Amino acid sequence: MIELGKKVVVTGVPGVGKTTVINGAMERLAAEGIAYEAVNFGTFMFDAARKENLVSNRDEMRKLGKDVQKRLQQVAASGIAAMSTDANVIIDTHSSVKTPAGFLAGLPEWVLRELMPDVVVLVETDPDQILMRRLGDASRVRDMEGARAIAEHQEFNRAVSAAYAMYTGCTIKIVRNENFLLERGIGDLVDVLR
Ligand code: AP5
Repeated sequence: MIELGKKVVVTGVPGVGKTTVINGAMERLAAEGIAYEAVNFGTFMFDAARKENLVSNRDEMRKLGKDVQKRLQQVAASGIAAMSTDANVIIDTHSSVKTPAGFLAGLPEWVLRELMPDVVVLVETDPDQILMRRLGDASRVRDMEGARAIAEHQEFNRAVSAAYAMYTGCTIKIVRNENFLLERGIGDLVDVLR
């Protein structure tokens, strides 16, 4: 494994606003002269999946068989670890992925071993806000699920993240990204990244 700078994994259920908060935090930090590189784990997986003609869009990946998803995870984790850099890195990904066969850990042992994050951030907000954001985002093919199912997914993400802390010694930080309070969420992530 090649040593990187500070590694921060940012997770959250689809549509909670991970990428929005990450982009805002990177902008603020850049103004302070603190550089971070952002990598999207799903993009690494998608590039590999597309090469094999397994999917035509990134939202189809979570429907693939468990073993295929696990193999793509491995490809993504090795690709990110091989980015030989001492820069600070944010990895935009998922604590767990909701598949037809149940929750799949986003950071199983073989992924953690490659990434060894310093911090895992869980971006959260109220399930009904997430539901509305999904409905308003026509660019993606979102699973149709209600607020209760979204709440359950967020609970599972907390539970599985405790295992990540046990395995790596990383800290777990919860950042709220509430409607009308995006700047506060960005500020909380900046505090973690500084
Ligand atoms: P990925 O593309 O990362 O999935 P995603 O979570 O669906 O990503 P999004 O970018 O759509 O959601 P987001 O939370 O970043 O929200 P956004 O900022 O866009 O991953 C794709 C796939 O890769 C996964 O489904 C999975 O199959 C696979 N994958 C990835 N990692 C994996 C892993 N470790 N293991 C296995 N598989 C993995 O915001 C959404 C909307 O909300 C926007 O319209 C935005 O404007 C709005 N919004 C944001 N914040 C606010 C706010 N405060 N108030 C109001 N609106 C807001």
